[in-house]
Amino acid sequence: MHILTIIGARPQFIKVAVLSRYIRNNPQLGVKETIVHTGQHYDQNMSDIFFTEMDIPQPHYNLHIGSGSHGKMTGLMLEKIEALLLELKPDAVLVYGDTNSTLAGALAASKLHIPVAHVEAGLRSYMMVMPEEQNRRLTDHLSTWLFCPTDTAIDNLKKEGIISTGGLPSADNKTVCKTGDIMYDASLYYRQKNIPLQIPSNFILLTIHRAENTDDPVRLKSIVNAVNSLSESKFLFPVHPRTKKILTEHGLDFGKHVTLIDPVGYLEMLKYEEACVAVLTDSGGVQKEAFFFQKPCITMRDTTEWVELVSSGWNTLTGADTGKIISAIGNIHTPENYPQLYGDGHTAEKIMKVLLCQY
Ligand code: UD1
Ligand code: UDP
Repeated sequence: MHILTIIGARPQFIKVAVLSRYIRNNPQLGVKETIVHTGQHYDQNMSDIFFTEMDIPQPHYNLHIGSGSHGKMTGLMLEKIEALLLELKPDAVLVYGDTNSTLAGALAASKLHIPVAHVEAGLRSYMMVMPEEQNRRLTDHLSTWLFCPTDTAIDNLKKEGIISTGGLPSADNKTVCKTGDIMYDASLYYRQKNIPLQIPSNFILLTIHRAENTDDPVRLKSIVNAVNSLSESKFLFPVHPRTKKILTEHGLDFGKHVTLIDPVGYLEMLKYEEACVAVLTDSGGVQKEAFFFQKPCITMRDTTEWVELVSSGWNTLTGADTGKIISAIGNIHTPENYPQLYGDGHTAEKIMKVLLCQY
């Protein structure tokens, strides 16, 4: 089976690391993987560092799309991916998550009747203004194999009429299955790796990059005000390039209790997640990783796709409201129960089994 995998943004490098390693470690499966990097993320610390430190094979192709408006980026990707698919004729196209690279890969493949496998299918925020919600909904509807991390994701798909139908795999004959979360596999494997690092103590790990927070000056200022008011806490803040640019444009500064650093590699990020007292974030992946390390998480969003983190008490949603963020940090506590929400760490194996037995 020849699988062509499309990746392009930071969280996708972390996800592909797991599945690609599984394919490489199991040559008896007879799977050939071609990795295509769209170039959506391109800075050394947003892209290359992950390939080097996580032993991800260098992409066979880099489309060098770079940054731009949603339409321009997605359109350029679509054109280039289509040309590659026509040349390479893979048996399936595999996409991860909900970025513009995900949608471009799924759309290019399905227009050519190449079946699409979507890892992290079925997640919903029920906010169609989010670029990610548009990307994931469209991708799910175009996909043949929908690999869901949770029962909630399966239920979300059911509500949209997406269920397993059986029959020869195609965009109309779908397979929906629960596999657990591939980011859990990643965190279990890579947390064992040691790197030389001076880790601060007693700090809150902060990340901000969601469009709804960074593109709205009112929300962004409200978040900055909350963090600046919490001057009795220490924060460590690896700053996404999008956020860095916008903070500079608006002249927004943080107090001395906030240490701003450039984006870090995954191994370093895991060490900070392990060492922190809590996480304050608007990231999808970081919300889950806080839970993997049994750290309370405060999420600066109005909704989350990872609803089970909220119902189990591990995650508190505050939106961008200054008062709610301050009060949530003041109420940080660790719930007593730690449910097994995201599978058993064998997501990659489950995905490959389904793909191979149906192919
Ligand atoms: C993208 C995804 C988002 C995901 C995030 C992971 C979409 C619509 N959004 O958001 O779902 O959570 O990646 O981090 O696909 N930039 C650089 N260097 C880089 C990459 C980006 O400077 O290597 C800057 C550019 O100014 C660019 C901006 O960041 O315009 C935004 O990048 P983009 O890929 O469009 O969106 P993200 O916010 O990274
Ligand atoms: N991450 C990282 N370095 C950083 C910030 C995040 O390696 O400086 C990792 C983080 O551990 C998680 C992933 O990037 O695995 C999350 O990506 P991001 O927050 O950019 O996107 P999202 O998950 O919201 O789509």
